[in-house]
Amino acid sequence: MIQIADILPTPLAYAALPADELRERIIRRKMELNAVILGHNYQRVEIQAVSDFLGDSLGLSQEAADTDADVIVFCGVHFMAETAKILSPEKMVLMPDLRAGCPMADFVTADGLRQLKARFPGAAVITYVNSTAEVKAESDICCTSSNAVEVVNSFAPDRTLLFVPDRNLARYSAERSGRPYLTTSQLGASVEAIPEGAIVAWDGYCYVHDDLVLDELAEAKRRYPNAKVVIHPEARGDLLARADFVTSTAKMVSLAEDHDELIIGTERGLIDRLRQQYPNKTLVPLSGAAICGNMKMNTLAKLAWSLDHQKHEVSIPEDVRARAEAALRGMLELSGGWRAPTPEEAAIEAAGMEGAGGCGCA
Ligand code: 13P
Ligand code: SF4
Repeated sequence: MIQIADILPTPLAYAALPADELRERIIRRKMELNAVILGHNYQRVEIQAVSDFLGDSLGLSQEAADTDADVIVFCGVHFMAETAKILSPEKMVLMPDLRAGCPMADFVTADGLRQLKARFPGAAVITYVNSTAEVKAESDICCTSSNAVEVVNSFAPDRTLLFVPDRNLARYSAERSGRPYLTTSQLGASVEAIPEGAIVAWDGYCYVHDDLVLDELAEAKRRYPNAKVVIHPEARGDLLARADFVTSTAKMVSLAEDHDELIIGTERGLIDRLRQQYPNKTLVPLSGAAICGNMKMNTLAKLAWSLDHQKHEVSIPEDVRARAEAALRGMLELSGGWRAPTPEEAAIEAAGMEGAGGCGCA
């Protein structure tokens, strides 16, 4: 048995330990700290194996909002850990590697979004959760890949919508909701002529999904003609038009339960795990090259180091956090994952449960 007190100085020192020992350290330290490990579906399989909760961006945000743990270790990318902190400001939120950012999120800055808003004074801003806390703070509401269409449809059909930062998810949502669509690169000097109810999309994208191409899909279909095709909405429109299902990573997990043959257009981490889970099914990556290097920055060694040293802690200035929280809560409320407390519930909460008939412990 390992001596848990034996903290090593660097992630590199942990990397020299056998995987079994790393797992044992992670589990014991996690219990000591009352920590929970949240793992995105794109994590390495060994990280997924030690995660308390696996999921897509929506599921992870809901889990972050609900957990009673004192510490959340987020195995994902930076915006996901920020989301956990936004929803659970009293908890310590840790990331095993601070460099695990999301290039799509980095397409748009709060300044850039403020400039766009200034050009469309009456417009509402919908921000994909793959965005920084500062950008969320400038938004009316957030969305994820699983609820973007629902969020778009929650606005009046004639209201202009600014959608950041993913042009592909924006275009897919525009198609599904019957709204006109254009990107910020197509905006001219004047915005007078923009059609009523249009979605104006920031011209950002995910390099992993935007790189999936028709030739790869054609080849996969040639080899597996009976397989159904499921593709993530961060992919390009020409691919989505040929998919049987367009959906988030969590819903892909449910589809793999129900189908024996699937071609899956998303990051490899999800497919690797599904193949382990269903060794007798034919679950084929649309592209073997669809790997998010940022997601893969998290390793067992860095996770063990992170728990032992309680690093890297994520922090957000309170004014930014509170405004970003409003945009996230709006989305969670719409998706049934969270509702505002009734005045009675809020009063009970504020009174420290006095009226709830509990045991009266402090
Ligand atoms: P979901 O987990 O919401 O499907 O999004 C995938 C993604 O690219 C997250 O970075
Ligand atoms: Fe960002 Fe794409 Fe990686 Fe998701 S897969 S974290 S959107 S770069």
